[in-house]
Amino acid sequence: GRLVKPGALWTRIDVLPETASTNAVVADAARDGVPEGLVVLTEYQSSGRGRLGRTWTTPPRSAVLMSALLRPADIPAARWPWLGLLVPLAVASAVRRVAEIPAQVKWPNDVLVGDRKLAGILLERVDGPAAVVGIGLNVTLREDERPHPAATSLALEGALTTDRHTVVSAILRELATRYQDWVAAAGDPAVILPDYSELSATIGQAVRVELPDGTFLEGTATGLDTDGRLVVDTPSGRRPLAAGDVTHLRA
Ligand code: BTN
Repeated sequence: GRLVKPGALWTRIDVLPETASTNAVVADAARDGVPEGLVVLTEYQSSGRGRLGRTWTTPPRSAVLMSALLRPADIPAARWPWLGLLVPLAVASAVRRVAEIPAQVKWPNDVLVGDRKLAGILLERVDGPAAVVGIGLNVTLREDERPHPAATSLALEGALTTDRHTVVSAILRELATRYQDWVAAAGDPAVILPDYSELSATIGQAVRVELPDGTFLEGTATGLDTDGRLVVDTPSGRRPLAAGDVTHLRA
């Protein structure tokens, strides 16, 4: 059962007209000892951060750009990677419900519609311990504004709503519920796995994976192991892949 009422998680929501990176703002707050539940939203980021040292750029007011501070202090460190799967699951579920488009999760933590990327998630760990959960979701981004040909937006997918407030509240509600359920279960992946698998665009697919040394791995993604690693069956055997070990994954 749930120990805390959903919604009780978010203690403070700051909206900034512009900032370098909401993840940077929340990471600073985490280092200053700000308690769990801070949310920072912005209209525009001048140096948005993506995974693997990439940048994340969106035109002003075209996206939901937000970061949240979580402190899953009582969860064993070995289970923390599941947070990286819980967040995209929450985003995809919220988008499906409020925008009525068939969003899926691409392992580890992209949100796709078809084979185009709707949202990206960047988790950063800060000593304390704390997790900075960054979400960038394209909302009104137009075809000619896309930073990458594989990008899409709620508007481009014909979503029921492109109102950023509606989308943000749906995400915050979904994230609070799923996070609190996970914490109440002491980080048990069983709370995440069934829904994640159901919305997964990766599990069950033939995949081609680029590793940090530039080599490729081909096989079938058969599922996730207890550490949240993607298990890929290849001709040379079974390979569990951690999120940090994958530079590029194509279904
Ligand atoms: C990725 O797909 O590489 C992750 C992109 C994450 C972007 C979001 S936007 C809000 C938050 N602040 C940042 O600087 N990055 C994340």
